[in-house]
Amino acid sequence: MKVCIIYHSESGNTRHVAQHLAAACDARLVEVTDTAGYNRLTRFVTRCKMARGEELTTIEPASIDVSGYDQLLFGSPVWAFKPTPAIHAAIQAVKGCEGMRATAFYTHGGQPGQTPEVLQRWIGERGMKCVGNAGIHQSEIESEKRTKELISILIKDSSPVE
Ligand SMILES: Cc1cc2nc3c(=O)[nH]c(=O)nc-3n(C[C@H](O)[C@H](O)[C@H](O)COP(=O)(O)O)c2cc1C
Repeated sequence: MKVCIIYHSESGNTRHVAQHLAAACDARLVEVTDTAGYNRLTRFVTRCKMARGEELTTIEPASIDVSGYDQLLFGSPVWAFKPTPAIHAAIQAVKGCEGMRATAFYTHGGQPGQTPEVLQRWIGERGMKCVGNAGIHQSEIESEKRTKELISILIKDSSPVE
């Protein structure tokens, strides 16, 4: 089964999890970078405000061709109880995703808030079928047990989408 993992990570937690998941299923990894260039002093507040408002940002790569994959997996940090503007932009940037099976994961500091519902909604709005999501606390990213649980929740078999 061909899996493509698309993720955003600022401080490395989500990247770490994405790399472990990719190793488990031999997936293609696509890291998206937020190219907005935030002011160092105000960026925490700006990022929270943008995430709360479900805003988009500019990302690199700006377009991601996913045709030919059996499953997509999106990964995001939690910002202000929601996924990040960069993963929002990444979900908008995927090309050839219609009808595809997708799952999502998020790393957080203990308060994921509305993140799972919002990810599910954005994925559904792009015509993908969201078949699962899971969060991982930042303190658990080295946990083999938790990583195995994530794999069983997020990497689905290739039976047809219902
Ligand atoms: C701007 C900002 C807002 C955050 N808001 C939340 C939050 O609402 N709830 C939470 O549990 N963690 C929050 N965190 C913590 C991150 O979700 C957590 O550290 C995550 O693993 C970071 O992922 P990364 O290392 O891939 O960037 C926030 C972190 C930042 C930088």
